[in-house]
Amino acid sequence: MNILGIETSCDETSAAIVQDGVHLLAQVTASQIDLHARFGGVVPEVASRRHVVDITKVVEQVFCDARMTWSDIDAIAVTCGPGLLGSLLVGVSAAKGYALATGKPIVGVHHIAGHVAAAMLAWAGGTGATPPFLCLVVSGGHTELLTVDSDFRFARLGGTRDDAAGEAYDKVARLLGLAYPGGPKVDDLAHRGRPDAYVFPRALLEDDGFDFSFSGLKSAVNNEIVKRRNRGQDVSVEDVCASFQAAVVEVLVEKTRRAALHTGARTIVVAGGVAANRGLREAMSKMAQALSARVIFPPIELCTDNAAMIAAAAYPRAKAGRWSPLTLNAYAQLPL
Ligand code: KG4
Ligand code: ZN
Repeated sequence: MNILGIETSCDETSAAIVQDGVHLLAQVTASQIDLHARFGGVVPEVASRRHVVDITKVVEQVFCDARMTWSDIDAIAVTCGPGLLGSLLVGVSAAKGYALATGKPIVGVHHIAGHVAAAMLAWAGGTGATPPFLCLVVSGGHTELLTVDSDFRFARLGGTRDDAAGEAYDKVARLLGLAYPGGPKVDDLAHRGRPDAYVFPRALLEDDGFDFSFSGLKSAVNNEIVKRRNRGQDVSVEDVCASFQAAVVEVLVEKTRRAALHTGARTIVVAGGVAANRGLREAMSKMAQALSARVIFPPIELCTDNAAMIAAAAYPRAKAGRWSPLTLNAYAQLPL
């Protein structure tokens, strides 16, 4: 079964064709990073207007790259939430338009389910995860600990009470004057700094639950920078990045470790944009090894927003013929 996936929930316009939920045949993504960088973050209205310009181009290009036509496609999958409403509406409207024109059925996909499914795709040198597994989703908008059952159904163990992990990365990057999106830049600088140079808080580690909080960490970083600058002391950007990253990684890994012990999970999936983080990958792998559990990260290019993960997430529903109606709408907030 070949599924055309469409993803436009934030600032990437992406189309992909995925076979049987695991084989990525082609993917084309138009990034808007350059467009938003000068504003220091995504401007929703600007994002949706650019999606309108790019959506048909990426869909046409993905058919060219896969050497396929509409007759090769069995279903259309599209992100219907959560995300920026104007951006989501472009993808959902395009998917419904293609469905009407071609008679293909559609599946509306939850964006987080997409991030999880990225780990189920096969990639060079690796076979994807097969549910059931424990999953940590860490992106710019979400930090969620979930269990995923063999029918690809989700149960939430916990999540952030305020900022998402990626949001904290982007805000700290901004405090340090680094360009948007700051996560990858903080990651690079962290590798050149000392993780014990500054002591930043590890929120909710004493709490038995599986919730996270990152807004206090961001404030602590800000306070440290302001304090040092007011005293005329130097601030080492590398040391701040390394110490901040150490705090984020320690909390994410420790909560995931406890969730693995609590659920008895043998496979741990880490997905979402922050799963591209090298420090997190190293620490999570070490932790999983100590538990004799398997840890799976999607390849870096499938950690951030992309359409292949949306097509992969739609596959279990498409296989069961559970289609969305053509009245499918877009939702800025959407429960998993
Ligand atoms: O999943 P994603 O593309 O979009 C959302 O659904 O939010 O995640 C984007 C987030 C941004 O906050 C970005 O700074 C962060 O992922 N990110 C990283 C890294 N690469 C991307 N954060 C830390 N280290 C990285 N290497
Ligand atoms: Zn995302």
